[in-house]
Amino acid sequence: MNRLEELWLTVSVGILVIFMFIIGYQTFALGMGPPSHKETIDPQQVDQIEPFDEPGLKMLGDKQYEVVMILQAFAFTPSHIEIPIGSEVEFTMTSKDVTHGFQIPGTNINAMVMPGHIQKISHTFNEPGEYLVVCNEYCGIGHQAMSTTITVK
Ligand code: CUA
Repeated sequence: MNRLEELWLTVSVGILVIFMFIIGYQTFALGMGPPSHKETIDPQQVDQIEPFDEPGLKMLGDKQYEVVMILQAFAFTPSHIEIPIGSEVEFTMTSKDVTHGFQIPGTNINAMVMPGHIQKISHTFNEPGEYLVVCNEYCGIGHQAMSTTITVK
């Protein structure tokens, strides 16, 4: 084999091995794996399935909350949530119809909420104020009106 060929083979295989090592490190050591598809849900039965049979704000502990939220054209249920400042909030969401978005501008919360899947994202609200929540996935004629608020005080 030509020396240059050998060099190319070594370099390309080396790069592959390095990438695989980085991905493995991120997944297993840092817990940064892509979201699994394990948590699925029948979008037709959302209202009957726990925890979505009782959407709303739930207190888990001191300054710890869970928001069980259903997205559908063109609303967030519950809407207009109020939480105390400094709370860590875990959002558990699903969609009853099409793909919606859950974005809070000014924070790093930006999630895609798909029918058939349960989406989870958490955030600690350390700044008081009224946070706007918008749907950032085009979901139909009322898409631009699909929004709600979270008040932190
Ligand atoms: Cu829901 Cu756009």
